[in-house]
Amino acid sequence: MTARRVAVVTGAARGIGEAIAEALGRSGAAVVVNYRSSAREAEEVVAKLDEISNAIAIQADVSVYGEAEMLIDKTLAHFGRIDILVNNAGIVRPAKLLDMTPQDWHDVLTINLTSCFNCSKAAMDHMVSNKYGRIINISSTYGQTGSYGQTNYCAAKAGIIGFTKALALETAKSNITVNAIAPGLVETEMASSVPEKIAARIIERTPIGRLAKPAEIASLAAYLASDEASYITGQVIGVNGGLYM
Ligand SMILES: NC(=O)c1ccc[n+]([C@@H]2O[C@H](COP(=O)([O-])OP(=O)(O)OC[C@H]3O[C@@H](n4cnc5c(N)ncnc54)[C@H](OP(=O)(O)O)[C@@H]3O)[C@@H](O)[C@H]2O)c1
Repeated sequence: MTARRVAVVTGAARGIGEAIAEALGRSGAAVVVNYRSSAREAEEVVAKLDEISNAIAIQADVSVYGEAEMLIDKTLAHFGRIDILVNNAGIVRPAKLLDMTPQDWHDVLTINLTSCFNCSKAAMDHMVSNKYGRIINISSTYGQTGSYGQTNYCAAKAGIIGFTKALALETAKSNITVNAIAPGLVETEMASSVPEKIAARIIERTPIGRLAKPAEIASLAAYLASDEASYITGQVIGVNGGLYM
């Protein structure tokens, strides 16, 4: 990386977010490890990152606009800039529509999708005036294919794809790229909530024949965040072992 880039990764205390924070740290960026409730895990990630880069943990529920704004403000106060935003925070709350509560719908939509709006909007003034930005939104294969019992999650992840493309159009002239990564099933706490029988069926249907490791998502995020990825914008890139082509 040329200048010392500063990255904010939402939901970075574990799983894919943690792997992305580490990959960005290794590439030379200073990293803000955002978390909502996992303070101890976030501090552990920061301690690991401090050996290779510069990192701080900032608590914020990014589904709430005021908290996303505070996350960006604190980042600017500490590091003086923000170059890379990875909208990674997410939850699942599976249920067939017949059993899904309005709260299940609302929480999944706000945490997965509205959070992307919140953090991008809060960071936008700075990125535009800086004439530089890399926004990476974590979608899902399920936003492309649908998934039984997950209307809320699939709507949120498909929404991220539309959001990514529309924002990419608006920001291209300001040298801000916006891309989405659509992972298949990845070995994290989130995936461990998938019943064994269903996970086995997904592996069977995956040409590469296994789940993804968080680092396999993180390496793409680090590339999209790099100066070298300057001509890639508005893309949805699958990291899914061939599950969806
Ligand atoms: N694992 C998969 O198979 C898979 C596949 C495709 C896409 N994805 C997507 O990849 C992303 C990361 O998933 P993961 O598997 O790493 O999940 P994970 O292990 O459950 O981690 C999710 C992280 O999101 C954070 N988070 C949740 N709500 C938040 C909020 N309101 N504000 C800030 N942080 C919040 C959690 O932090 P706290 O513990 O502090 O609340 C946690 O660190 C998600 O967007 C997910 O939908 C995952």
